[in-house]
Amino acid sequence: MGEVDPAFIQDPEHRPRISFTEAKGIPLIDLSPIAKTLHPSSDEVSAVVREIGNACEEWGFFQVINHGVPLEMRQRIEDVSRKFFAQSLEEKRKVRRNEKEVYGYYDSEHTKNVRDWKEVFDFTIEEPTIIPASHEPDDKEVTEWTNQWPDYPLELREACQEYAQEMVKLAYKLMELVALSLGLPGDKFHGFFKDQTSFMRLNHYPPCPSPHLALGVGRHKDVGALTILAQDDVGGLEVKRKTDGEWIRVNPTADAYIINVGDIIQVWSNDKYESVDHRVVVNSKRERFSIPFFFYPAHYTMVKPLEELTNDQMPAKYRAYSWGKFVTTRKQSNFRKLNVENLQIYHFRIPE
Ligand code: OGA
Ligand code: NI
Repeated sequence: MGEVDPAFIQDPEHRPRISFTEAKGIPLIDLSPIAKTLHPSSDEVSAVVREIGNACEEWGFFQVINHGVPLEMRQRIEDVSRKFFAQSLEEKRKVRRNEKEVYGYYDSEHTKNVRDWKEVFDFTIEEPTIIPASHEPDDKEVTEWTNQWPDYPLELREACQEYAQEMVKLAYKLMELVALSLGLPGDKFHGFFKDQTSFMRLNHYPPCPSPHLALGVGRHKDVGALTILAQDDVGGLEVKRKTDGEWIRVNPTADAYIINVGDIIQVWSNDKYESVDHRVVVNSKRERFSIPFFFYPAHYTMVKPLEELTNDQMPAKYRAYSWGKFVTTRKQSNFRKLNVENLQIYHFRIPE
């Protein structure tokens, strides 16, 4: 991508500091007890449930090991991702996303409002994904979102689809642990994901000549229920620590996944588990690859604080919002400037 174009230069407030805190970091949780049984009365399982609950409350982020996702599948998707991004821009732009085809390839030069130093390939999990046709609240029509698959590498499609199924399995397991940690039945959340709108992204962050001026991904929170991220050994992901607002680097851990709570869990849990700011810092020497899986419920889900977690003393902090309308609004604002500020959950917050 060459020199840092002025469009990529971050406001001073958001610029990365070059020295970062390499603190103890986010919790590392061993999921091996879950592989055997998910019976909540087992001591080992209840210990994991407690760890997950603490991590969600204190950090909104944690890493998991012994998660059951076969390493070969991860290596396979990492390999196709490298091959895909190594092609010329012209090749990659053959599967470029647009207003109609919302999944596929894009680089920041073509999304002028996004100044992230990266290029991505997106694909959806359920094909087709059913979604509202517009963001207009009264419009009941739905539409279908499908994938665009590149010709090269040939094995990309299969590698992505196979890996995605593993992500879905792990996501259900994690939601089960989150539910138990909130004192709810393990399957409390499962129904919301029956017609999931989840998607995955292959990220490529090229080396950046002036890493102090740009960011791979600017500060943001994830809008879904939860995110499962595979990062390579380069590192660059930083999490805003809740206790003091410091940016903490997430150290690469071989074969681990980084999990974070998204906005939907924040609303479901009525702010007990908060969605946390994070960002990606780039470097001048090494390119970096990462693969997030975004676990999203069905479009018809009305997201609101769970009744089990609210009462007269702890009233609901959010009004219900339609997940499908939320997603459609966000996607459309990627392509056109809508006359609304990008939708955020605080728009649904009930004033105290
Ligand atoms: C994201 C994200 C982090 C990374 O895509 O939402 O936070 O390390 N990615 O790529
Ligand atoms: Ni994110």
